Amino acid sequence: MFLGLYNKGMKILLVGSGGREHALAWKMAQSPLCSKLYVAPGNPGIAQVAECVAIGVEEIDRLAQFAVSEKIEFVVVGPEAPLVAGLADRLREQNIPVFGPSAKAAQLEGSKGFMKDICRKYNIPTAAYERFSEIAPAHTFIDKLGAPIVVKADGLAAGKGVVVAETVEQAKDAVSDMLSGNAFGDAGASIVIEEFLDGEEISYFAICDGENLLTLSSAQDHKRAFDGDKGPNTGGMGAYSPARLMTPAMEAEVLEKILKPTVSAMKSEGCPFTGVFFAGLMVVNGVPKLLEYNVRFGDPECQTLMLRLKSDLVEMLFAAATGKLDTVKPEWSTNPSLCVVMAAKGYPGSYQKNTSIRNLDAAGKVSNAQIFHAGTALKNGEIVAVGGRVLGVSATGETVAAAREAAYKALGLIDWPEGFCRRDIAWRAL
Ligand code: AMP
Ligand code: GLY
Repeated sequence: MFLGLYNKGMKILLVGSGGREHALAWKMAQSPLCSKLYVAPGNPGIAQVAECVAIGVEEIDRLAQFAVSEKIEFVVVGPEAPLVAGLADRLREQNIPVFGPSAKAAQLEGSKGFMKDICRKYNIPTAAYERFSEIAPAHTFIDKLGAPIVVKADGLAAGKGVVVAETVEQAKDAVSDMLSGNAFGDAGASIVIEEFLDGEEISYFAICDGENLLTLSSAQDHKRAFDGDKGPNTGGMGAYSPARLMTPAMEAEVLEKILKPTVSAMKSEGCPFTGVFFAGLMVVNGVPKLLEYNVRFGDPECQTLMLRLKSDLVEMLFAAATGKLDTVKPEWSTNPSLCVVMAAKGYPGSYQKNTSIRNLDAAGKVSNAQIFHAGTALKNGEIVAVGGRVLGVSATGETVAAAREAAYKALGLIDWPEGFCRRDIAWRAL
C-alpha cells in the first residue's frame, strides 16, 4: 500500500504539550511508521516516549524552520492556536505533509460566527443565532429571545469566551463586557448570541483529508470543576469513551446531517478541511445539534480515544494529510476507557505552582491504567505541577465501572496534596 514508501519509518514532529499530546505521542511512538518522534515543546511524560524540542506552540516561524532543517517528513499539530495562526499553511508551502487544517479552514473553531454562518448556509442543525458588533441591537435581540440565552465571543478565548446567561440582565452584561473590549480583547470585538439548547453534550470525532471523511468515535467530557457538575466551567475534568447516548443510529445522523454537509461546505467555500473535526454536540430530545466545532482533538477526550484505538494512529493521520483516507479503516477496542483529570487546587482560577508530585511510577503500574502528563515539569529530578490541569489518570476496562475503578486506584497512589479531581467521572454512564 502507499505507506510502503515510508516503511523505513518517518521523522515526525508533533506540536503541543498537553495531556492530549502525551496521548497522541504515546500512540504515535508505537507505530512502525515512526522512526523518530519530536514533540515541541512536550512535557516530562512525553519525554519518556519522544524527544522534546524547546519551541513553543505559537512560535510558528521556529516550528517551520525546525521542520525544514531536521527534514521532518510529517507534522501533527495538537492545539488550535498554531492552526488558526497558519502553521499548516506554512508547512504545506514547504511540501511537508501536515495533519491539521489551513488557517482559513481553522476558522471553523477560530470564529464562531464563521462556523454559525456555514451551518445556516448549508442547513446544518445548530442553535438559532445572530451575530453582532454593536451593543444596542444585541440587547434588542436578547429582549426578543429571552433567557436562558448564550453569548459567545467570536474569536479564540481559551475556552472562556462563552457565557450561558440565566437572565436577560446577565446576557446584556456579557454583551457589554465583550463588545466594549474589556473581556477577551479582539476575540470579543464581534459576538454570537444564540438560543439555549437544553440537553446532554457529546464530543464526536472524525478526520478528513479534504474530501474523504473517516469517523472515529465519541466521548463525554465533564466541563464543570466539581462533582455533580457543580462549579465553574473548565477545559474538561474527565471523560469516558464511547459516550452513552451515541448509538449507531445517532452516529449515522451526525454523519449525514452534520459532518458530510460540513466537508462539502468547506470545499464549496474554497477551504477544504484536512484534520480532525471535533463536533461538540447537544442531544436535544434524541436529536443531535452542533454546538461548536473544534479543529483539534479534545482534551481529555483524546486520552480516552487513544486508549481504545487498536489501529496505527500514524497511518491514519498520514493518510488524512496526504489525501488517502479512503485506504484506512480504524479498529477500536470494544472496551470503554476513562480519564480523570487531576488539577491544581484553585483551577480554573489561580493556583499554586511548582508543588511536588510523587509516586507516579507506582500509579502507572496499576493494571490497565495509563498516566498522561499535562501541566508538569521536571525540576531537580522531581516532577512538579506547573499548570492548571496537570495529569490525566486514564484506564480501560471491560465495563465503564471497571475502567473507572482502575483509574481511581491509580489516582489513589499519586502523592500530590495540592491537587484535586472529580470523583464522579462517567456518572451518566453508570
Ligand atoms: P462552546 O465553546 O461553544 O462549546 O461552549 C462552551 C460550553 O457552553 C458548551 O460546552 C456548552 O456546555 C455551553 N453551550 C454553548 N452553547 C450552548 C447553547 N447554545 N446552549 C446551551 N449550552 C451551550
Ligand atoms: N474537553 C473539551 C475541549 O478540549 O475543548
